[in-house]
Amino acid sequence: ALNLKGRDFLGLVDYTPEEIRYLLDLAIELKRKQKAGEIYHPLKGKSLGMIFEKSSTRTRISFEVGMYQLGGQALFLSKNDIQMGRGETIRDTAQVMSRYLDGMILRTFGHRNVVELARGATIPVINALSDQSHPCQALADYQTALEHKGKLAGLKVAYIGDGNNVLHSLMMGAAKLGMHFASASPEGYDPAESSVKSSREAAQETGSRIDIVRDPREAIEGADIVYTDVWASMGFEEEQKDREKAFKNYQVNEELTKYAKNDYLFMHCLPAHRGEEVSEGVIDGKHSVIFDEAENRLHAQKAVMAAIM
Ligand code: CP
Ligand code: NVA
Repeated sequence: ALNLKGRDFLGLVDYTPEEIRYLLDLAIELKRKQKAGEIYHPLKGKSLGMIFEKSSTRTRISFEVGMYQLGGQALFLSKNDIQMGRGETIRDTAQVMSRYLDGMILRTFGHRNVVELARGATIPVINALSDQSHPCQALADYQTALEHKGKLAGLKVAYIGDGNNVLHSLMMGAAKLGMHFASASPEGYDPAESSVKSSREAAQETGSRIDIVRDPREAIEGADIVYTDVWASMGFEEEQKDREKAFKNYQVNEELTKYAKNDYLFMHCLPAHRGEEVSEGVIDGKHSVIFDEAENRLHAQKAVMAAIM
């Protein structure tokens, strides 16, 4: 087995293809153990601090339950309830928490906060979503795709919609895993140039391809996986109306998915705005694996914690 002890998990960019595949295999193995009722407590006596600056259903529950299942405990720390919300610096917070805890997760706005926490801490830090990326989500999504398709390399992933954190991590994951990634976003909502650049660099090593286009039909053509996310992410709520206009031709619906492969998987990180980025028919249809993705957040994050903590 690979040794990842002590590493941070801030983005898939920091992990080699071999390390990502190791985490996926471990996630599948931990899922099997859990379903078989096998007790596995590699993190007995350990504690995870979970700092949240934004809302969460899946991330909070899956980390908390995951830590418990691995024999440890988790503390939910809303930013508003800890001194960080009153101006205690991230660096001091990192040092103090490192004296009590064995790992930390942070859900925040600016990605630099995650980097700063990791830099100040002497324990592993996990990115539980920043404006830049959501690596735990992508890991669970590729576990889901692997379970349904039996392989990843060579598959085509199409992302339709906002060029956000979820897109960035999926794109990097596809690059690392040798998948063809194509996304279509309206003008002004493209993925960040820096993310596209680093993903293309990773893609060169695996022979994967990254296409950023405007036309959703072009992106979805022949796709094995069709992915979308909300048009207005957390923190962009006041732009909802403008975004509804800009994204009106970017709904994943029965018309658009005709261009995907016949056996395509529909994926969404959730929460979804039904009837906006995706039609009810598609999200509830036979191609949809949204609740497998949600479940796999638990298994994938247990793999990360068991590996690095
Ligand atoms: N997908 C995801 O991260 O969901 P939550 O915001 O509910 O954690
Ligand atoms: N892009 C969304 C993902 C939520 C899990 C957001 O940042 O709000």
